[in-house]
Amino acid sequence: MSPHPDDHPPQSVTRTAVRPGWWTEAVIYQVYPRSFADSDGDGMGDLPGIRSRLPHLRDLGVDAVWLSPFYASPQADAGYDVADYRAVDPVFGTLADAEALIADAHALGLRIIVDLVPNHSSHHHDWFRRALAGGPDSPLRRRYHFRPGRGAHGELPPNDWESVFGGPAWTRTTGPDGTPGDWYLHLFAPEQPDFNWDHPAVADEFRSVLRFWLDLGVDGFRIDVAHGLVKPPGLPDAGGPAQARLLDGGAKPFFDQDGVHAVYRSWRALLDEYRGERIFVAEAWTPTVERAARYVRPDELHQAFNFSYLTTPWDASALRAVVDRSLDAMRAVGAPTTWVLSNHDVTRHATRYANPPGLGTQLRTAGDRRLGLRRARAATLLMLALPGSAYLYQGEELGLPDVVDLPDEARQDPSFFRASGQDGFRDGCRVPIPWTEDGPSYGFGPAGSWLPQPADWGGLSVRAQTGAAGSTLELYRSALATRRAHPALGAGDRVDWLDAPPGVLAFRREAEGRAVVCAANTTGAPVPWTAPGTPLLSSGPLPVAGELPPDTTVWWSTP
Ligand code: GLC
Repeated sequence: MSPHPDDHPPQSVTRTAVRPGWWTEAVIYQVYPRSFADSDGDGMGDLPGIRSRLPHLRDLGVDAVWLSPFYASPQADAGYDVADYRAVDPVFGTLADAEALIADAHALGLRIIVDLVPNHSSHHHDWFRRALAGGPDSPLRRRYHFRPGRGAHGELPPNDWESVFGGPAWTRTTGPDGTPGDWYLHLFAPEQPDFNWDHPAVADEFRSVLRFWLDLGVDGFRIDVAHGLVKPPGLPDAGGPAQARLLDGGAKPFFDQDGVHAVYRSWRALLDEYRGERIFVAEAWTPTVERAARYVRPDELHQAFNFSYLTTPWDASALRAVVDRSLDAMRAVGAPTTWVLSNHDVTRHATRYANPPGLGTQLRTAGDRRLGLRRARAATLLMLALPGSAYLYQGEELGLPDVVDLPDEARQDPSFFRASGQDGFRDGCRVPIPWTEDGPSYGFGPAGSWLPQPADWGGLSVRAQTGAAGSTLELYRSALATRRAHPALGAGDRVDWLDAPPGVLAFRREAEGRAVVCAANTTGAPVPWTAPGTPLLSSGPLPVAGELPPDTTVWWSTP
């Protein structure tokens, strides 16, 4: 096993009421493997590609890397349909590549978090194949949710649940002679059958999978659909419109059942057997941040993504409310708050903020790109000044917008097809990222890329932005370096709000006798503002003394 980052001397961190640990204020960077770097020219990113680009992440100044799934998979949902939890898909490389990646990352002081997909497997998983082949009486069917249909001939789904990707959450099986049989549950695509977490073999298997990756040296797990594992007894109808949207915040019978917490308590006990501070982060789309806090009670998971923050518009009072509410909810359970603005499932924040608020998280319009980028930079600086841990999504450090005009024939998101083009625009944030000004795929790889890149991608590349004054990449680098150096950024669990003009969010944070003030002007007009100290960093130019420019965030070092 490679040297663990804990073998290096720890950085000094401020200890507060929040449970201590590297992760409580870590900046964690999401790599979407198929779109990061392609080493072999098949148009799909891979593990050797990620290895070759780790120095970018070290230079950026992040603490850890979360990798979206790279396991053996037919790729019906870009790898979130896992056929073998202990194997690397050949498109991404080999297990040896994974080990080498972990070792390289550790040598650079970066931790590695892998994705775990416990709600469902691929329909190509050995258990599911055998369950289907074994017929209605196969005991393996009890590891999933197989049920007879309703109606005189079983022709109707067993209940009214709808899939997150559109259409019924049930698919009917067909026997070898073509006779229709029982139905199976899939909250996502039909290629993603849901596990039955009441079956002890499922729990045993996932404990074994956890150990497999922990033994390989990973520093943690991001838990996919962490709120979905446990279904209510009897799988009752949801009643009424039950579309299983992840993002709309409503309570659902198939999500956020109290029973999931027993699973996480058992996983936490297992994780704590391992040396080093390894962590779990939950992808739990709960109706409220208070419900999300239940996943991070002291004997459960370490972090949960703060989707309430991600879905808040660029508006000072809305942001202040969600910050307060998040900090209160997490403080109540002694967990650090997390912040996130973009990931592989939502339109990038540079494009969300380019559009009017209220359009949701999967947009099809470019909006005002200059405005979106200005706000995105300001939003990032605001996020990085807050106490707790922040998640970045690959390419946001380049200020990438979503690619909103992908031709339909290029799209691969299964939800696009299930929803007949009404929804499912996740491909727009998954376009391979540009590394160089030119080349067949702007340095992504030696050939093309699995999704077409826009013609202006070269100017946004890492190389074009490196050393360029005012570039978004240099802003991120400066922000992360400043945050690392300043004890009052990131640490702790409180903000002290300052009086500010309407539309401005301003707070002070203090640690180890040093203080910072962060002010964000979320309006489109300059606002009078007296600098409270020496400017540390600003998301845009500060042309007029005594004024906070529109859509700009500034950090000051203050007495
Ligand atoms: C999570 C993933 C998403 C995937 C879904 C089903 O929400 O982030 O990409 O489609 O789970 O696994």
